[in-house]
Amino acid sequence: MREYKIEAVVHVCDVEDLSEDDRELVEAAKQATNGSYAPYSKFNVGAAARLQDGTIVIGANQENAAYPSGLCAERTALFAAGAQYPDQAVVALAIAARKGKRFIPQPVSPCGACRQVISETEDRYGIPIRILLYGIDGTLVSEGITPLLPLRFGGEDMNPR
Ligand code: THU
Repeated sequence: MREYKIEAVVHVCDVEDLSEDDRELVEAAKQATNGSYAPYSKFNVGAAARLQDGTIVIGANQENAAYPSGLCAERTALFAAGAQYPDQAVVALAIAARKGKRFIPQPVSPCGACRQVISETEDRYGIPIRILLYGIDGTLVSEGITPLLPLRFGGEDMNPR
């Protein structure tokens, strides 16, 4: 049996330590929580995607009485970006979440399906997406999806050597 060690390096920093662009993106994700429709979970999530030309596209979770018909904030933002600006790569994605008026203390953790969609978006444009997970106690920064989704499934896995 062989052991395969997976290492993930991410950084946690104060919002003030981020670049001006990234701070703006986190602020956009926080603002985007106002577009959340979450009558069931009451967990308001916002996401903001930065495109290569600087454009910011926002998304927010949209719930449904038939639960699986809803969609997370991250996918709302990434699908909107893909639909409106298909030729613009996504370079960064910020996510924020609040319960009531209070943003959560820990960095919000994207679900597996959203990680997969972030991965596909990286493959689509061929560049890593800087991921900024906001929390009051710190913002987790991941340079690309790989640390959050090791051993990911991609298009190339359907055409093995
Ligand atoms: N949710 C997101 O929008 N993004 C995440 O990263 C985690 C979960 C949403 C889905 C659902 O509307 C609510 O939060 C509770 O799971």
